[in-house]
Amino acid sequence: MRLESDDPFICLAHRGASGYEPENTLRSFSKALELGARWVEFDLRIVEDELVVFHDRTLSRRAGVIGVVEKQKLSALRTLDVGKGERIPFFSEVLSLIKGHARAQVELKGPGTGEKTAHYLNNLISMGWAPDTFLVSSFDHEEILEFIKHAPTIPVALLLYGYPLHTIPMAQAIQAYSVHLHLDTVTPKRVATLQEAGFKVFVYTVNEPSDIAAMRGIGVDGVFSDFPDRVISRS
Ligand code: G3P
Ligand code: MG
Repeated sequence: MRLESDDPFICLAHRGASGYEPENTLRSFSKALELGARWVEFDLRIVEDELVVFHDRTLSRRAGVIGVVEKQKLSALRTLDVGKGERIPFFSEVLSLIKGHARAQVELKGPGTGEKTAHYLNNLISMGWAPDTFLVSSFDHEEILEFIKHAPTIPVALLLYGYPLHTIPMAQAIQAYSVHLHLDTVTPKRVATLQEAGFKVFVYTVNEPSDIAAMRGIGVDGVFSDFPDRVISRS
């Protein structure tokens, strides 16, 4: 089992290899592993007290039906085709698939995911999983605070859309391992400032080869990409 890569530039397979397979499905995560990804990113929501892997608040884009994900019955949700016959996976199914092959960058999307995910991962750690198998983030910083309260030993990231003036104090306040920036907000100065303050910098979502090369050039620590093979060095 080898989670490290020879290339220090990290590729986080965004929703799996979602440029090739339906996002956030077992098929997409299998493809990411096949392409050599050592990190996979995915999004968590709670349906009927179970953690499921799904990005959107509603079902229309992925399943072609009307409805808010969290309001569905799990039995009905699991019958939906979200592309190529794939089903919405449980968190547990994704972790079983990637165990020993890739780390999990878990993004908390829905209400209540902070506390629930913390308890879920604490249980895995008590069964022998290494805490650094996981890196947990959320745009909802209150969910991250809830997560930290209940799982203080598991690494977390500060996930941002913009670049607030108080970015460094925020990252320090949650003792972030990394800060995740949108591609549009990346500047060499911001990257250098964050790295000097002790944080890794990962940038989302970087698909164009010229952008991937630019991020390498600036010296960011890694990128999220729907096309892991465009990032992963085969040399
Ligand atoms: O966590 C990085 C990235 O996934 C955040 O945006 O909307 O793709 O979940 P989104
Ligand atoms: Mg995400």
